[in-house]
Amino acid sequence: MIRTYGHEIAEELALHSDIPVINGLTDRYHPCQVLADLMTIREHKSRLEGLKLCYIGDGNNMANSLIVGALKCGMDVSIACPEGYTPHQEALDYAATVTDAKFTLTTDPKVAAVDADVIITDVWASMGQEEESEKRKIAFQGYQINDELMALTAPGCMVQHCLPAHKGEEITEAVFEAHADEIFDEAENRLHVQKAAMVLLMGNQ
Ligand code: NVA
Repeated sequence: MIRTYGHEIAEELALHSDIPVINGLTDRYHPCQVLADLMTIREHKSRLEGLKLCYIGDGNNMANSLIVGALKCGMDVSIACPEGYTPHQEALDYAATVTDAKFTLTTDPKVAAVDADVIITDVWASMGQEEESEKRKIAFQGYQINDELMALTAPGCMVQHCLPAHKGEEITEAVFEAHADEIFDEAENRLHVQKAAMVLLMGNQ
């Protein structure tokens, strides 16, 4: 497993490796976290296919992996990011190949949130972007999961956050606390779903 910054570093390791390489997080993708998110959504909603997943915020590694992972599971995906912070072209190109689920990219969180069954966000400045945090606080104004946005979602909409959360920035304290059980199930499921990944890659089949 490699957890690093530049995605090309993980790709180079995989190129030279004759054993499976797990992406533990790169600047471009965060597949292990998204497996935990998908597991948690299925745990709470009993299915994935046909549900609408909405992501609000930075078009970062979480957004990219959610696009790929949720579309692969037959979920509709809507993403709201400010201009200049859109998901990676590779993830958008993948979305363009999917025909059995809907994909929407917008700059308007209120458009993205309509009828969502699960709504997800992430910090405005990820690991390694700390020096950009003041600039990002301005760019991401309005990209917050709050009661007003939750009112637009489907009844029983879940909230997921990969943590640590910056309450008052990408999510309000009220929404976080109202959905803390779902968010902490998501954190717990990192352990279980990563064990599943290891069984698939290293277990006797
Ligand atoms: N976007 C975040 C994900 C951490 C779980 C980061 O890269 O810091």
